[in-house]
Amino acid sequence: MVQLDPEKIKRDVQEVFERYGRNPARMIEILQDLQDIYGWLPKEVLKEVSRQTEVPLTRVYHMATFFKAFSLKPRGKYVIQVCTGTTCHVKGAYMVLDRLKNVLGVDVGGTTEDLMFTLETVNCVGACALAPVVVINSKYYGYVTPSKVDEIIKECREQR
Ligand code: FES
Repeated sequence: MVQLDPEKIKRDVQEVFERYGRNPARMIEILQDLQDIYGWLPKEVLKEVSRQTEVPLTRVYHMATFFKAFSLKPRGKYVIQVCTGTTCHVKGAYMVLDRLKNVLGVDVGGTTEDLMFTLETVNCVGACALAPVVVINSKYYGYVTPSKVDEIIKECREQR
C-alpha cells in the first residue's frame, strides 16, 4: 500500500491549478500534469481534484479511466514495454518477457514493490527491423535477448 502525504497532495493539486485554473474544461491537462508528478493517479489525488473543482468524483474517475494514458494503479519509475507484435514474437519476444518476469518478480501489468519497474506488453511499436524490441520510458532497445535483459535492468538501477 502506497502512503501519500495529504499536505503534499494539496500542494501539488494547487500548483497544477495555478497553471490551468480550477477549470473542469482543462481536466485532461490537469490529470496529465498530476500523473507526471506521481507516475499514476492515486485515489486521494482524484478526490482532491474533485473537492477543489467541485466536479463530482465519479466524473473525475470517469475521465481518468476513459483515457488509456492515465493509470489508476501505481507505476514504476521505469515502464518496461515488451513488444509482442508478430515480428517480435517470431524473434523471441516471449523469451525476453519471461526473463523480465523472473528478474523483476512481477507479471505483465505488475509493478515491483520498490516502485522501480512496471512490466507491460505492447503491439508493434514500428521498429520491426530491430526485433525483438523493448521500450523503456520511450527509449528503444533492439535485438534484445534474455541475457541482455539483465544488463538493461542493471543500467536502469544504476541511474536510480
Ligand atoms: S512487431 Fe515489434 S516492433 Fe514491430
